[in-house]
Amino acid sequence: MREDAFVLKGNICYADTKDHLTVMDQGYLVCCQGIIRGVYPVLPEEYKSLPVTDYQDLLIVPGMTDLHIHAPQYPFRGLGMGLELLEWLNTHTFPEESRYKELDYAREAYRIFAEDLKKSATTRAVVFGTVHVPATRYLMEELERTGVITYVGKVNMDQNSTDELREKDAETSLADTAAWLADTAGRYQNTRPILTPRFAPTCSGPLMEGLGKLQREYQLPVQSHLSENLSEIAWVKELFPWSSCYGDVYGHYGLFGGQARTVMAHCVHSSDLEVELMKKNGVYVAHCPQSNINLSSGIAPIRRYLEEGLRVGLGTDMAGGANLSMFRCMADAIGVSKLYWRLADQTRKPLAMEEAFYLATKGGGSFFGKAGSFEEGYEMDALVLDDSGIRSTRALGTKERLERYIYLAEEGGRLAGKYAAGRKVI
Ligand code: GUN
Ligand code: FE
Repeated sequence: MREDAFVLKGNICYADTKDHLTVMDQGYLVCCQGIIRGVYPVLPEEYKSLPVTDYQDLLIVPGMTDLHIHAPQYPFRGLGMGLELLEWLNTHTFPEESRYKELDYAREAYRIFAEDLKKSATTRAVVFGTVHVPATRYLMEELERTGVITYVGKVNMDQNSTDELREKDAETSLADTAAWLADTAGRYQNTRPILTPRFAPTCSGPLMEGLGKLQREYQLPVQSHLSENLSEIAWVKELFPWSSCYGDVYGHYGLFGGQARTVMAHCVHSSDLEVELMKKNGVYVAHCPQSNINLSSGIAPIRRYLEEGLRVGLGTDMAGGANLSMFRCMADAIGVSKLYWRLADQTRKPLAMEEAFYLATKGGGSFFGKAGSFEEGYEMDALVLDDSGIRSTRALGTKERLERYIYLAEEGGRLAGKYAAGRKVI
């Protein structure tokens, strides 16, 4: 339910730039028709008639965007972490995703996924489904009911996969995609389609060519994977020998930014040329630190990307990452940036807490437009955090409480409220 206009009161904290948090203790956050009007120390006269929810001493922060997550991989989260990407896909991922041909299985698995996502800190997510149209449609329906705002992709893959999972050919994959788009068009309020070539190795040239056409025809955004793993990059060079870099393969087919809003997961080992191309085309990087640890992929140079002005957000990459929590994701992003600085390049200083928080909120949120901040005109996505279960003898300020919540949410944090586009989710 969306009340047309309301006010939340509490200890408000949000990132307006990547280096700066605005904190307002006992502030008023005003929302009208799903849009933030502002944050005020004293409620302005014009809003005095609005209903106020007083969250007292709790923290109120913007909602978080998981910029890269695989819904069908949720059942095997936390399992099979001993392999690198290509072996992991063949051993764990493709067999699991094959099961979504059975709608009964998909129903049960996606119901659990949607329930858990709803309970998490994620207010927006960019989601991979599987190749299967009925299962993906079911996923969209489940997600729609949660109130979380999502882009959902039916996966395309017509080569280099198992017999069970691979689509018959490019025509079949494209026809299924067009049917899925037609079938789901205008059906949902919170759930939108996104084109999803899985990654270059599993997509033939004709398939990507057709997806480029669909992109232009329907003006759809695009998600995929990029330069995650060294063997993967070498394989892409073998499969597409004409390409100047991995990203150039997508770019060749019109699936790499520019007028096609695009998010690429990982970018751990992107070449200088690839970084240039991402920058020129405004391609988003979905940084997935826990996945990069689990699959021994490496450490993405996020400091460099921020210095060069690339668009960056955070992703869990479930089930490369085992954990749905965007708090854990922020702590991991900070942690791996320290290892990168210490072990790889001492000119790239570690991410500060403010920067990780910015990436999780406004950085990733901008893929959806104006989301992830409490500045005027932003869509109202908010979390109410109760940290009273994280016990300490110290008297902490709001920023310290947020920092501690990032690291200790699982110890005693409680999500006391969650709003997406002005609608109460929890
Ligand atoms: N590259 C292609 N498919 C996948 C996937 O499912 N997970 C990850 N982490 N990388 C991929
Ligand atoms: Fe992924």
